[in-house]
Amino acid sequence: DWTMASYKDDAIAKIRAQVGDKRVICGLSGGVDSSVAAVLIHEAIGDQLTCVFVDHGLMRLNEADEVVSMFRDNYNIPLIHADEADLFIGALEGVSDPEVKRKTIGKLFIDVFQREANKIEGAEFLAQGTLYPDVIESVSFSGGPSVTIKSHHNVGGLPEKMGLKLVEPLRELFKDEVRALGRELGLPEKFIGRHPFPGPGLAIRCPGEITREKLDILRKADAVYIDQIRKHGLYDEIWQAFVAILPVKTVGVMGDGRTYDYACALRAVTSVDGMTADYYPFSHDFLGETATRIINEVKGINRVTYDITSKPPGTIEWE
Ligand code: XMP
Repeated sequence: DWTMASYKDDAIAKIRAQVGDKRVICGLSGGVDSSVAAVLIHEAIGDQLTCVFVDHGLMRLNEADEVVSMFRDNYNIPLIHADEADLFIGALEGVSDPEVKRKTIGKLFIDVFQREANKIEGAEFLAQGTLYPDVIESVSFSGGPSVTIKSHHNVGGLPEKMGLKLVEPLRELFKDEVRALGRELGLPEKFIGRHPFPGPGLAIRCPGEITREKLDILRKADAVYIDQIRKHGLYDEIWQAFVAILPVKTVGVMGDGRTYDYACALRAVTSVDGMTADYYPFSHDFLGETATRIINEVKGINRVTYDITSKPPGTIEWE
């Protein structure tokens, strides 16, 4: 796409002009936006960029390793991997209120990010994958009604606090344009087309108390579910799909034995912007086959339900 190719060259020139020979820090979440921003900035200024990946231990199966190997090994981008699973999961012990979870994670995230960023000597800029809709949203929110449904996880206010100037090379782009730019930069298609994933990660897909055991079960069930969706060619038709592990154990029967394990809920929605959503109309065959696979392949789950709530009145995530 010639437009994106020239947009890319333009963006690179602008980054070089803004940053000069100074150092830039970029927070990587593993999502599309921050990844595209990082690769673009790296093309512009090379090793003047250091990425910081705050790993809260709430990522999906193998996801943290994939982020590290893609950026460090594949793109050769200097990357600090702050593996802080113990810190986050420790702080979440005994917490079941959704807002307390979000705030605990958000606060720790900023602490860890700041600690790591302070180690990068001479950094003057902080790069963010802010998109055009984020710019609009923050404007309209500030004048709108102050009803907080969920406190969102972001690093707003951090640049001023740290005395850093912002680099936001995606500020003029919509999501589909960011994906096109990502392709232009050679990011793998499978990565670019990924469903959105919330900042607080699996914590908000584990209603009630979070334990390592539950997170482990959830990761495995989610991987089977997504594998099913990909195998049936449905991934790109769906805005977002995931499993939530429920804070309840129920009785089942397997072979000659009684089981007493967790129930889980499958979620899949279509949406244009995440503001409203409809549940995805899977076939009964698909649902039956997926339930069987999860129960057979994931120790710890013996019951599978499908969430048929649209947004509103539901939200996409469970917390
Ligand atoms: P809800 O659950 O509010 O989610 O219907 C709408 C969209 O936003 C995502 N989401 C988040 N994204 N930080 C994020 O970056 C968050 O704290 C957060 N909470 C929800 C959610 O996955 C869905 O795509």
